[in-house]
Amino acid sequence: MNNKQLVKVPFVDLALQNQPLEKEIQQAINRVIQAGDFVLGKALEEFEQSFAKACGVQYGVGVASGTDAIALGLQACGIGAGDEVIVPVNTFMATIMGVIAAGATPILVDCDSQTALIDLGKAAQVITKKTKAILPVHLYGQMVSPKQLLDWADTYQLIIFEDAAQAHLAARESVGAGTIGMATAFSFYPSKNLGAYGNGGMLITQDEAIAQKVKTLRNYGAQSKYYHTEYGKNSRLDTIQAAILQVKLPHLSPWNQLRNQAAKEYDKHLKKLQGITLIENSSGEGHVYHLYVIRIKENCAFKREQIRDKLTAVGVETGIHYPIPCHLQPACKSLGYERGDFPQAESLCSEILSLPMYPGITKNQIAFVCEQLSVINEQSKLVKYY
Ligand SMILES: Cc1ncc(COP(=O)(O)O)c(C=O)c1O
Repeated sequence: MNNKQLVKVPFVDLALQNQPLEKEIQQAINRVIQAGDFVLGKALEEFEQSFAKACGVQYGVGVASGTDAIALGLQACGIGAGDEVIVPVNTFMATIMGVIAAGATPILVDCDSQTALIDLGKAAQVITKKTKAILPVHLYGQMVSPKQLLDWADTYQLIIFEDAAQAHLAARESVGAGTIGMATAFSFYPSKNLGAYGNGGMLITQDEAIAQKVKTLRNYGAQSKYYHTEYGKNSRLDTIQAAILQVKLPHLSPWNQLRNQAAKEYDKHLKKLQGITLIENSSGEGHVYHLYVIRIKENCAFKREQIRDKLTAVGVETGIHYPIPCHLQPACKSLGYERGDFPQAESLCSEILSLPMYPGITKNQIAFVCEQLSVINEQSKLVKYY
């Protein structure tokens, strides 16, 4: 939508969460400027410790992005060339790019039609002698069942490496995101539940050796200044970004609660609409709703794009996460998959719609979005009838 004046309900509203903290954030930035420790500074170390603690683990290593947290984290777990990593096909492409960057081969698996999360039954069918790990993605803010994951990994003796880029402080079965795997990747992309003023990511783990290895890899493979034990890269979380994230961190849990409440409000309105299916919440209060995603029923008279256009016309911004399943992305051609290989993900991608979701979205705004969907639903019945 070009004309911001027309937007009644934005898809996200970052200013709403950043403005009240502006003064505190400015002071934190100023402290870094005064200290001049822009790279690997004190505020980075402080934030690494705080975020790891908030997640319930011992070590956190700040890196340049969530993608690098996956790539360097997998490398640190000893996963690389010749190894296969099982990945859900229904994820953001960065998950797959992280596996490729680590030198390993992503093996894609379809998702469960109700939760849109990796289907562990299907994952068991693609295990080979080369399989080293499973990389569950806690998509939209909902964790893959920790119990099922741990049982699964125990049965097949495989490493779990979590992608929690969309699931900061999410929980399920009283277990927190980032506490079940050998290591876990987070993203601090600005619109994430905990977002920086630019790019950022973190690898968390309970294993000191893995944390140390990522520290080396993110810093040109140097164990100490000008002493390079391996090939690494330049991938540090900037001290200024860490200082900003440290100010925001105490607000993460209340923000997540607001997201969860907003989702309940949406559920209440939308359960009644015939043309819509909701993505199942199997984790109750532990779902941190990075995104609130609905599914337009296959037999609805309006296609998803038409519904999106109608919502845009009345000032409601929406998104699609994601419109093309990873196996059909041109970049993945060499993996050798074809249309039809992952039917659940393929139909999800053509039917899903992400509605506005951010901490502070009001009941009235949600009611407005749902009212518009209800009007469209009624129109669609008429289209069907005639
Ligand atoms: C599921 C998932 N994995 C990985 C990433 C990559 O994170 P980043 O954009 O920080 O590289 C993202 C975020 O964009 C994501 O949503």
